[in-house]
Amino acid sequence: MGVQKLEQLYEGKAKKVFKTSDPDLYWIEYKDDATAFDGKKKGTIMNKGVLNNKITTHFFKLLEGKGIPTHLVEQINDREQVVKAVKIVLVEVVVRNIAAGSLSKRIGLPEGTMLPKTVLEYYYKDDALGDPLINDYHIQVLDLATPEQMKVCAEIALKVNTILREYLKDKKIDLIDFKLEFGVHKGQVILADEISPDTCRFWDVETREKLDKDRFRRDLGNVEEAYKEILKRLTGETI
Ligand code: TMP
Ligand code: ASP
Repeated sequence: MGVQKLEQLYEGKAKKVFKTSDPDLYWIEYKDDATAFDGKKKGTIMNKGVLNNKITTHFFKLLEGKGIPTHLVEQINDREQVVKAVKIVLVEVVVRNIAAGSLSKRIGLPEGTMLPKTVLEYYYKDDALGDPLINDYHIQVLDLATPEQMKVCAEIALKVNTILREYLKDKKIDLIDFKLEFGVHKGQVILADEISPDTCRFWDVETREKLDKDRFRRDLGNVEEAYKEILKRLTGETI
């Protein structure tokens, strides 16, 4: 790929973003840093950057193949990707199939309860506010996205859920819930950020073992092993 990595634009909790010689492209570097609870808990998960880069690339290619527009252009190496330059929409879209985490706390459904219908939620991407739950009215008042853009986000989120749920079932993984982020590129809303054990809850279909970041959040141990297991089930690759 002929594009050159230039100066850093931004450092997030899990990734760094760099400009490139092409104004339409960014260069992303995945880090091993792990945070939870809006950055209040900090740690490192060995090789997380490599694992999440590979896992995200795998999912984004799968989704592109099914007609979902994503920011992915190319995986460059173990930790880096070149992506389309986007302006991130400051709304995190969460899709839930089974009650867990903050949903269980908020509405009192025990973790593991199958939801009779898919739940879609929006959170305001603002660490200082603790990423609060918001609705369409809040999104308009804060001018975070237009109603048309939110319609696209919701449609893509539900399609991603259908595709990944079925795909993961085959790999003996239950997709409990996940978070997506979107970006605007040349006026089009596309899938951005990552899809990884940091941003999804994955449970083994049979044992119900957690294979995601809850192992870090809840100090369950074998965190790196869980991320490796996900990569292995998706691509057969061991690192
Ligand atoms: P929650 O139950 O804590 O609200 O999380 C729902 C899903 O969203 C879960 O799969 C983890 C993911 N998530 C993130 O990716 N980033 C976040 O900041 C939070 C709170 C959740
Ligand atoms: N809150 C996110 C999590 O629990 C990450 C973070 O805020 O740093 O996964």
